[in-house]
Amino acid sequence: MDRYAVMGGNPLVGEVEIGGAKNAALAILAAAVMTDEPVTIENVPDVRDTNVLLQAMESIGVLIDRPERHTVVMNSSQICGCIIEDEFMKKIRASYYMIGALLGKYKRAEVPLPGGCNIGVRAIDQHLKGFRALGAKVEIAHGSIIAEAEELKGSHIFLDKVSVGATINIMMAATMASGKTTLENVAKEPHVVDLANFLNSMGANIKGAGTDVIRIKGVEKLHRTEYAIIPDQIEAGTFMVAAAASRGDVTVKNVIPKHLECITAKLQEIGCRVEEYDDAVRVVANGKLTSTQIKTLPYPGFPTDMQPQMTVALGLATGTSIVTEGIFDNRFKYVDELVRMGASIKVEGNMAVITGVEQYSGASITAPDLRAGAALVIAAIAADGETIIEDIKYIERGYEDFDKKLKRLGVRIEKVSNDRDLKKFRFKLA
Ligand code: UD1
Repeated sequence: MDRYAVMGGNPLVGEVEIGGAKNAALAILAAAVMTDEPVTIENVPDVRDTNVLLQAMESIGVLIDRPERHTVVMNSSQICGCIIEDEFMKKIRASYYMIGALLGKYKRAEVPLPGGCNIGVRAIDQHLKGFRALGAKVEIAHGSIIAEAEELKGSHIFLDKVSVGATINIMMAATMASGKTTLENVAKEPHVVDLANFLNSMGANIKGAGTDVIRIKGVEKLHRTEYAIIPDQIEAGTFMVAAAASRGDVTVKNVIPKHLECITAKLQEIGCRVEEYDDAVRVVANGKLTSTQIKTLPYPGFPTDMQPQMTVALGLATGTSIVTEGIFDNRFKYVDELVRMGASIKVEGNMAVITGVEQYSGASITAPDLRAGAALVIAAIAADGETIIEDIKYIERGYEDFDKKLKRLGVRIEKVSNDRDLKKFRFKLA
């Protein structure tokens, strides 16, 4: 099993290039099956989640070519079924985007129900409500969601809860429904906008993405396109917070600074200097960090996917901070691992009360999920001594070359698969 070995104590210094947004890529790759013509998608991150989704798509006959590491050329004219197998759903929850895409184009989809996950219950009732409002018959049988329709018809849908996944899934299904769909109380995340732009580049008629109301005029057919995915807001935020926690100086390149505003604002509040450029941000942290309060919210609020990383930084800030998780019901599981590294954090329900400590100390810990895994790596970088992080497969779901990028910023980190590798890492540092 691969692990990261990290020798803490070095600040992050230098420049890092951010890749394409994983969550936008998952939606856009799924949506690409909605045309029979070839689609070229650039800036696709080479991470486990996107690669598993591509395998799921290949399993139903989508022809996929990868002329370069970050470019995917897809041809969906030879699709031979609308059933996604369980093995893919087990590996990646977002395979459920195939429901919206296949239902939209073929009026039929069968996808296994996504299970629970490490950050709490993740209902999909709003997705199903949307498909039904468009006229689909949706039933759950033998552990799968089966959605079908003679015809999809535009509708007026009000989401009871702001959901990124439901907004994306319903938007895809409505794109090829007859007539007009109005989708209210929708998610405004950058990847919702990116998906709308992608679908529009294939001939869809979607307006309002990025606001509370999305209006879609159904079209009969979508056509070929070439499209580049936006930079990853969360990967960028992770490096920004890693710079802060390690008292470093990092220029995070190839980003859209507007998407990072809420992270920038919090870092400034806790004593960092953040400089914004056209497509880069520089985070300089040379003094003590100070405490603050954070509540995670739908975009443009503070992202839940940055909550663990920020908690790690606040664990080293002077004073008492409060972090409230406003999206998921069980997203503080990693705190136990952080406490083993010397953090002083008490979790009460969806709130963490953090009393800053001088320094973390290296320990043997386990990544519980993707973002918490990245957060624990940040803790390891800022810690005194060596940390071993197990289960890095979670981190690899969403961060491309995480260890290599950190190494280039001066972090002493190595991906090790056995004791021999670990000994070599220690020997090199001695
Ligand atoms: C997406 C992101 C994930 C991020 C999350 C919140 C992808 C692939 N994943 O997940 O990284 O953490 O947004 O920004 O883009 N809910 C319901 N009913 C539904 C759908 C959701 O009650 O039908 C609830 C969820 O349980 C959760 C909240 O709504 O409490 C937000 O979930 P949602 O925005 O749907 O998250 P995901 O799309 O799963």
